[in-house]
Amino acid sequence: MTTLLTGIAELTTWDEERPQLTDAALVIDGESIAWTGPAADAPACDEAFDLGGRAVIPGFVDSHSHLVFAGDRAAEFAARMAGESYAAGGIRTTVAATRAATDEELRQRTAALVAEMRRQGTTTVEIKSGYGLSVEDEARLLRIAREFTDETTFLGAHVVPAGTTPEEYVELVTGPMLAAAAPHARWIDVFCETGAFDADQARRVLEAGAAAGLRGRLHANQLTYGEGVRLACELGLAAVDHCTFLSDADVDALRGSGTIATLLPGVEFSTRHPYPDARALLDAGVRVALASDCNPGSSYTSSVPLCIALAVREMGMTPSEALRAATETGARALGRADVGALRVGMRADLVVLDAPSQLHLAYRPGVPLVAETWIAGQRV
Ligand code: NIG
Ligand code: FE
Repeated sequence: MTTLLTGIAELTTWDEERPQLTDAALVIDGESIAWTGPAADAPACDEAFDLGGRAVIPGFVDSHSHLVFAGDRAAEFAARMAGESYAAGGIRTTVAATRAATDEELRQRTAALVAEMRRQGTTTVEIKSGYGLSVEDEARLLRIAREFTDETTFLGAHVVPAGTTPEEYVELVTGPMLAAAAPHARWIDVFCETGAFDADQARRVLEAGAAAGLRGRLHANQLTYGEGVRLACELGLAAVDHCTFLSDADVDALRGSGTIATLLPGVEFSTRHPYPDARALLDAGVRVALASDCNPGSSYTSSVPLCIALAVREMGMTPSEALRAATETGARALGRADVGALRVGMRADLVVLDAPSQLHLAYRPGVPLVAETWIAGQRV
């Protein structure tokens, strides 16, 4: 079955020779992109849709989220907006609510958030555990996350739960909890931060994860300067996320590494922290991704378009750089070469915008511009 999408005012493919085309068309064969080019040269297909001058972009690859949880922390947000500051300890509030929820409740809530993401153009999402913090609950959250995505991440090392010492907890995370989580996870992550885990503890967790076959990613330098970003680069992790407080040595380490810096502007929005300097990172030659970090504490948004708008307005990225960071580089941060761009042979995951150009994502902030989301060649 072949499908022609034509009448595309602007098509973003991230193809090396012509990353963005105007007056374009695209052909889907089954689940994959079969052809892209000028509308006038499009081949005949089994079916055809005229998009009437709208823009088409790759679906967003949201490489960082914490979708499996119960309750919310709206009161904590209100307190912050009245002058309180964000602290990692708020995570324990969500842990209590999540432990008390049934599987079915968690499944339904996760499904609702994934649907919300799709409506906003996200076609691939990574989902972390981290609100269970016991052997049974971490495995349970990952089993539920796995029902929605292949990109699941074991984040047992989110904070140390009440009633245990950091040393005892790291033993648990690297032992029985990892054994229970590993069958349901592709990735392992640690919150490396004051009030959570230090760099030595993070290294132990990441090394144990690697020995169990999980690839590493890291939350680092969110609230304070620290060793996390350099640790991520030294260990060759796929991505290090947040990167809000960076020293020159951190930027040097990122530049010389294969590790992607994933920026999460929803966090700075919701915590009133300073935005990371994406411009300086890009100018230094660092590869930058953007993601939502959707979670009930520091960033309760599922909207990648919002993150793009913030990155353009507040972090010095151009609209094209921000879009690329939220698509192709997000895919790279998950080690994925099959999504994040619309090159021939890739999965047909795409978004039709109610706008003539991708520029409108930042130019018209807060406007629901996603008209259609397609995953693997199907409109969803
Ligand atoms: O990515 N930083 C650590 N974890 C989450 C926040 C979790 C929470 O506050 O519930 C984050 O920001
Ligand atoms: Fe996070």
